[in-house]
Amino acid sequence: MAKTKQHKVNFATKAVHAGQHPEEITGAVTIPIFQTSTYSNKKLGETTGYDYARTANPTRTALQDCLAELENGKFAFCFSSGMSAVSAVINLFKSGDHIVCSDNVYGGTYRLYEQVMRKYGLDFTYVDTSDISLVENAIKPNTKMIYVETPTNPMLGISDLKKISALANNRKLISCVDNTFMSPYFQNPLDFGIDIVLHSSTKYINGHCDVIGGCVITSDESLAEQIKFLQNSIGAVPAPLDCFLILRALKTLPLRMKAHNSNAIAISEQLSRNRKVKKIFYPGLKSHPQHSIAKKQMRGFGGIISIDLGSYSAAKRFCNALNIFQIAESLGGVESLVCHPPSMTHGSVPKKMREKIGMNDGLVRLSVGIEDIHDLLNDIENALKKI
Ligand SMILES: Cc1ncc(COP(=O)(O)O)c(C=O)c1O
Repeated sequence: MAKTKQHKVNFATKAVHAGQHPEEITGAVTIPIFQTSTYSNKKLGETTGYDYARTANPTRTALQDCLAELENGKFAFCFSSGMSAVSAVINLFKSGDHIVCSDNVYGGTYRLYEQVMRKYGLDFTYVDTSDISLVENAIKPNTKMIYVETPTNPMLGISDLKKISALANNRKLISCVDNTFMSPYFQNPLDFGIDIVLHSSTKYINGHCDVIGGCVITSDESLAEQIKFLQNSIGAVPAPLDCFLILRALKTLPLRMKAHNSNAIAISEQLSRNRKVKKIFYPGLKSHPQHSIAKKQMRGFGGIISIDLGSYSAAKRFCNALNIFQIAESLGGVESLVCHPPSMTHGSVPKKMREKIGMNDGLVRLSVGIEDIHDLLNDIENALKKI
């Protein structure tokens, strides 16, 4: 962090300043877009610390330093998508290794594990990681990692971070948490002893639906060395412009997250009073089965709400009747979005597996944006009348 390094500062100050020093030649306050692929060596064997932009780029360095501070970690690595961040983590392992994974993860993560990594001899067991005894029972002699999404996409299940990290430590396993739904503003898994935290920065971290990106953060030097090696070896690095945009977006992360959170709380309360909503999944509601854990380990409940409307036709009518909420994949942007996970984001998860975790064909996921709350409440109320 530039001037604030000497003092311990709070999140909103870090979000604006961490990793960012005035540029050396001009004093530019905003980190420039270093749009270069290579760097001139002063003399043979003498570099500035930057030699080739896949390995390192100053705009990316600033973003990585900022993200490391926001997650209370020592090292951060940025990728060209959330999936390439997940890929870097799973590439820490080798043929014959076994991973215990949340049974509800983003559909693309499940597809990567089942349709790509299995081909290379990795083995996965999927369990409800909100129940620590199921996680413990799934551990085999060749288990190497516990991989958890919390809250999960799209069922909003919560796993107890303290219990997951204690179990992983005890059994000498790596623990990894996909923290996409909370963003570093509401949850810092490393503070609970988790080894690796990752994000699809496409979502809240960037927050404006205009960049695809991912990041991996850790405080473990050996893991950091390996992830850095994989980042450079696989090469799925973000473009300098994308790093610039994400760095800019991070400055308003606290403001955005507060607005997402308060809008979603108001909407969840309205939805829970409507008879057409058969089930509602939102960790901020007292009726959520892991509400008390959520309150302990999260500083807010986030902007994602899932509802079960009972059937595909009800879900379709509801989505089509919304005006402000756009029907779209993705989440975490300032604009409100609605999606039908079984046919969209989680289409690659087999129906049997979807049903096991309660993802029925009537499930709809709302990504609550930062628009005026009265407009959002009206939009939802009107759409529910169309069912
Ligand atoms: C929880 C979660 N993790 C990872 C990803 C993958 O990120 P990306 O789409 O940026 O590759 C997503 C995408 O929706 C997600 O929701």
